[in-house]
Amino acid sequence: MPKLASSLPRGPRTPAVWQTARYLLDPRGYTRKLVARYGDAIRTHVVPGRGVTVASAELSRQVFAADPDNFAALSLLGDLFGPAAVIATSGRRHRRQRKLMNPRFHGARIKSFLATMQRVTDAHLQTLVARPDAVVTMSAFAQALTLDIILETIFGADPRLDRPHGRTILSDVVGAVVPAVIGARILRRPWFAPWRRFEAARARCDAWIDAMIAERKAGAARGETRDDMLGLLLDTRDEDGAPMDDAEIRDQMLTLLVAGHETTATAISWAVYYLAREPQVLDKLRRELHALGPAAPPESIAKAPYLAAVVSESLRIEPVVTDVVRVCRKNFPLGDFVVPAGQSVFVLLCAVLADPRLFPDPTVFRPERFLERTFTAAEFAPFGGGSRRCLGAAFAEAEMALVVASIARDCDVTLADGEPEVSVRKNLTMGPKRGVRVRVRRRDVQTASSPPSTNSSTPAT
Ligand code: HEM
Repeated sequence: MPKLASSLPRGPRTPAVWQTARYLLDPRGYTRKLVARYGDAIRTHVVPGRGVTVASAELSRQVFAADPDNFAALSLLGDLFGPAAVIATSGRRHRRQRKLMNPRFHGARIKSFLATMQRVTDAHLQTLVARPDAVVTMSAFAQALTLDIILETIFGADPRLDRPHGRTILSDVVGAVVPAVIGARILRRPWFAPWRRFEAARARCDAWIDAMIAERKAGAARGETRDDMLGLLLDTRDEDGAPMDDAEIRDQMLTLLVAGHETTATAISWAVYYLAREPQVLDKLRRELHALGPAAPPESIAKAPYLAAVVSESLRIEPVVTDVVRVCRKNFPLGDFVVPAGQSVFVLLCAVLADPRLFPDPTVFRPERFLERTFTAAEFAPFGGGSRRCLGAAFAEAEMALVVASIARDCDVTLADGEPEVSVRKNLTMGPKRGVRVRVRRRDVQTASSPPSTNSSTPAT
């Protein structure tokens, strides 16, 4: 039975600023220490407020399975993405938005995107192998690729749209989200220079998206229809027949563009990094891809089990998003405790993904673990969980699978730096400090189409 209201676990007594800074700068290292000292539930005081941090699959499950009406949205997300963005709304409005958008990210829809994902990937790979001796930053390459994929698949972007400009302004927005503005709401004010920089970047991005909306409306006036996400948002009507206003459409588009490309690019970069370090894994993956045949359709590639395990293991070992937060509207019973209304629950995805009780030798990259057993949704939750689970999870996994398969099959990748990569905070997400610097050569046609060696001495990659 849960204890009475305000029954909280033990936790550090250090000032909120200190706890926030330590978490933001080194989430995994800091939480390892906290878990070793306090266990799976930890009383926490960070700048945005007090709460309870949970670091076990069972406690995460309780949060994800709870009635979503227990929780309010996080103000930070509204400040960054706009108050109407699906990532920032809650209650009825959030349910309505998810109901509208979910079908675009599941089942047959994802299948219909695979050919486009593959085509865009092939085009980008041409540029990747064009200068075999040059050092390429994989995360920059992957960001350009994932942005083009999301523009073509979700928004069916008009070829007249200025994509290089779009890439620049989106990376400006992402780059302007520095730890200080994430940590403290008081700093998200015009007098704080980093926040002014974010607002300026967002204004440029809004103008770019507005142009996309105007272009589409003009097309609609000429009788053109497009069956994509922007078309859906423009056509949608509420119970009274009123359309979504442009500001709400813009918030959704910004959310999908930002949440949908940088995260996946980072995850792809980590997968390439680990394949380059683990020749045995690469060899096994190449054998699986080879067995699919030289002209395997993207549907078969996306379903390949070892490839899926490589994707999952990359997301597990280097989580792009380390935690998710739920703000309690009312007292929330959790394990042996009750989190008071107004406080938050911080679900430490990164701690569960590195929990040796679930993932023995958690720092070892071993995709086989995903073939040996099935994990519950709370045990393997790189995309969060419950009613807020990442809208684009299936999309991201399919995209990762196709891109990683193409690179493994067609390229020899060598790491340019001797030192291991480390994961550092980029903004809301974590990513490789140097961006995974590599040299890439196209595998010659003969090598790429013959079965890879069966031992671990495969060169490069
Ligand atoms: C490897 C890539 C990705 C990772 C690791 C990731 C991770 C996450 C996580 C952890 C959340 C929070 C879930 C929660 O609160 O429980 C989230 C939310 C979200 N993600 Fe992703 N994501 C990825 C790719 C994508 C893509 C490709 C899209 C869209 C095309 C997308 C769109 C969203 C949206 C709209 C939300 C907000 C959902 C809501 O609040 O209802 N994400 N993502």
